Amino acid sequence: MKITAIANSNIALVKYWGKRNEKLILPQNSSIGLTTDCLSVKTTLEFARKYKKDILILDGKEFKRGSEEYDKYFKSFLNKLRNLPRSEILTSAESRKGFASQTSVKILLRGLAKTKLRAKAVSQSGFPKAAGLASSAAGFAAMAAAANSALNLGLNAQGLSILARQGSGSACRSIFGGFAEWQRGKKRDGLDSFARQIANENYWPDFRLVICLTSKKEKKIKSRAGMAQTVKTSPFYDGWLKTIDDDLKKVRKGIRERDFSLVGKTAEENCLKMHALMLTTKPAIIYWNSGTIALIHRVFEWRKNGLECYFTIDAGPQVKILCLKKNLKVLLKRVKKIAGLEGIIVAKPGPGPKIVNNHLF
Ligand code: PMV
Repeated sequence: MKITAIANSNIALVKYWGKRNEKLILPQNSSIGLTTDCLSVKTTLEFARKYKKDILILDGKEFKRGSEEYDKYFKSFLNKLRNLPRSEILTSAESRKGFASQTSVKILLRGLAKTKLRAKAVSQSGFPKAAGLASSAAGFAAMAAAANSALNLGLNAQGLSILARQGSGSACRSIFGGFAEWQRGKKRDGLDSFARQIANENYWPDFRLVICLTSKKEKKIKSRAGMAQTVKTSPFYDGWLKTIDDDLKKVRKGIRERDFSLVGKTAEENCLKMHALMLTTKPAIIYWNSGTIALIHRVFEWRKNGLECYFTIDAGPQVKILCLKKNLKVLLKRVKKIAGLEGIIVAKPGPGPKIVNNHLF
């Protein structure tokens, strides 16, 4: 069956930077993301006998064997999907502990996808890829949602989150609208490593992200390779891990109480800590350009002068400025005056993936 899904990127307020299991994509720490109402990816996926090999077309360009996108991301995700392992069934003790919706996990475990069919995937995004805008999060959330229907997996949100995680870690948060926390989990098989919604997209409608594009070029170091190098070489990695629980607590509380200052301040500090890890990776990873640094200084200055806003930056040079609706107009006026920006996108809390009827092929 041919299925089309649309999913949105999520921007992390408490970041994920480092895995404890590369193959299953299990993180070193929990993280919190905000799913946007834009930065969407639409994917049509079809498994059928007529395909002799897996086909991937992203924004009109076919990616073939030998490319990182095809081998390391697409093909590896499809292979995981086709061979979802038979693994342990949850014990009743675990279910008593409230390990919700085990049915989905059991289904996932039974390896029901077991198919040899090849697939064609055509994906379209309206924004630059691999530029620190979480295109892989939206991409794999859409792919997981489409696969769920195309292969009739019957997964609920939790199962989908586990599946999307195995395409790209941050994708597990995009399965939920609004604010979601990706729980690190403890199990070796990763079945407790999925996202949970903290608040849906209607809970805090005044929350805004002003995404300032300082360069649309694809980054040279993909997050997957970058974070692996950081875990191996940054002398600050243990220090980072020690501070995460506190950041999570504050951001969770900030979201629940709609305390913008608490969320913004913590998110900015957390982002700077992640970039400190990148800077101290060997060899150093510097995603910022001069536009990024200029914007950081402007945000500090605007805030000092009474305009409450904070920034966050991911694995790319774009600066995402957090503000409330009441300050959006003034902030936009100021941002638009900055020379050299290649684009400005205003985002607010948005929904999780949807299945739609208009296919891309
Ligand atoms: O899921 P990945 O491999 O695209 O990594 C995402 C890493 C950051 O965007 C920098 C942080 C995050 O938590 O989204």
